[in-house]
Amino acid sequence: MLRSIEVDSPRQLDSPRQRVTVTLRVNGQEYHLLLPARTTLLEALRENLGLTGTKEGCGKGECGACTVLLDGRPVNSCLMLASQAEDHDILTIEGLSSQENLDPLQAAFIAYGAVQCGYCIPGTLMTAKALLLINPRPSREQIQEAIAGNLCRCTGYEKIIEAIQSVSSQ
Ligand code: FES
Ligand code: FES
Repeated sequence: MLRSIEVDSPRQLDSPRQRVTVTLRVNGQEYHLLLPARTTLLEALRENLGLTGTKEGCGKGECGACTVLLDGRPVNSCLMLASQAEDHDILTIEGLSSQENLDPLQAAFIAYGAVQCGYCIPGTLMTAKALLLINPRPSREQIQEAIAGNLCRCTGYEKIIEAIQSVSSQ
């Protein structure tokens, strides 16, 4: 299904002459957007498509809260222009589960009590998903390495690692 959306969010009205048409394929659906050229992928997802599951933390590539998958690989969406994501398959936290079922990773995060405030969790789940796509049985060290760029202030990481391990051993 194709949707056309014209954008006029206040944050983006400061460069009205530099708008570009961007086509994004997000969670299997294609969107045509008219955006200021410097709109980040994170802004396009949250402000223009309403996909607010992807969080903004630092806004400069340091916290991982904004992680989405681009062709199965994790990227910091705050560091990419939306136009750079054209012709790629973008997966956000909203696309991780079907309407009926949580992704096994989401279910494991709940079962293991890996979620506290929750702010970092969408990004961490997307990173974990990318890891399991390329390495279905990662070691504890590989999990730690994979999520090193996803900062969490609450959990101490142990429950998150256990949850990912539980899925990887299934
Ligand atoms: Fe993108 Fe922190 S918001 S890395
Ligand atoms: Fe609060 Fe991770 S659960 S920042």
